[in-house]
Amino acid sequence: MPTEIEPIRWRGDHLELLDQRLLPDVEMYRAYHDTSAVADAIRTMVVRGAPAIGITAAYAMALAAQHLKSNEADVWHSALEPALQQLAASRPTAVNLFWALDRAREVIAAGGDVRARLLDLALTIHRNDIANNRRIGDFGAALIEANSNVYTHCNAGALATGGYGTALGVIRSAFRGGKIAHVYAGETRPWLQGARLTSWELMHDNIPCTLNVDGAASWIMQQKNIRWIIVGADRIAANGDVANKIGTHNLAIIARHCGVRFMVAAPTNTFDLTAATGAAIPIEQRDANEITHWQQGELTPPNCAAINPAFDVTTAELIDAIVTEHGVIEQPNREKIAAHFAAFNRSH
Ligand code: MRU
Repeated sequence: MPTEIEPIRWRGDHLELLDQRLLPDVEMYRAYHDTSAVADAIRTMVVRGAPAIGITAAYAMALAAQHLKSNEADVWHSALEPALQQLAASRPTAVNLFWALDRAREVIAAGGDVRARLLDLALTIHRNDIANNRRIGDFGAALIEANSNVYTHCNAGALATGGYGTALGVIRSAFRGGKIAHVYAGETRPWLQGARLTSWELMHDNIPCTLNVDGAASWIMQQKNIRWIIVGADRIAANGDVANKIGTHNLAIIARHCGVRFMVAAPTNTFDLTAATGAAIPIEQRDANEITHWQQGELTPPNCAAINPAFDVTTAELIDAIVTEHGVIEQPNREKIAAHFAAFNRSH
């Protein structure tokens, strides 16, 4: 039985993050004692993946509060605001980060024992994320026929979340139910989350998988009888448009052309209902060096111009199902998403 993969660990008075930049060669945890170091870890991809970034930010606020001596509400407010701002500036697209910071703001505004309550918030967000991923896994697995080949992109696994994963959570649950014959994983240039992280997670769980270059996706869909593309999300707009790792939109277009279904697995805190459509989602532009260089060496002619958007937006009409911890939104649109949120808000 595979062991749990733990990307984020709270150690009583400090945070530990599994350095995902070193995987799969080296499994090394780094210790964090202050917010600015955590913001830097998010920015530099020590920790990545939308839910994992949100959980990490919540722990970073608990760290910020630990350093404060006073118990006065106005002191809390002014002392913690810079930490909130610093974390908010770390990466722009994954809305789970801003969702977690908003929850921390509510705790600070409510006052009381803010130090204890911020830590409790982080632990609760972390615990709930894992439980929600297991629910997403079950709902998503129910959509998949026995013995299916599926395709995934980037890493939406345990490493990208509190544990278990969203897209890989669906694949894990479906595999246990005998529904997955084989997983194809796109390598995901330039950070190679598919090659380094998804293949590592799937092999760790003994789920049969094969890696491919991103450009092979249409060939694989045609040749390997792929039933579903299954991906995570960084931010979902109110109309069902989904921002996810660059290349996801390509896959959705090819999938529609090839008659392959397209599933997005994400918790409800990945939705941004203030974004009317995907056009309102900020897309992170990362350093061109990430694609012009490999380790210390230059791949391209010196000064080669390069553009490095980290995410793209897949429009809702290309998506067959969005799976959350509350169920499945088939052929998502604005009305169905509003109804999904209304139904679970009523039940709380
Ligand atoms: O740049 P990254 O590695 O943080 O991007 C991650 C992704 O795009 C994932 O597919 C997405 O966050 C879903 S994670 C469950």
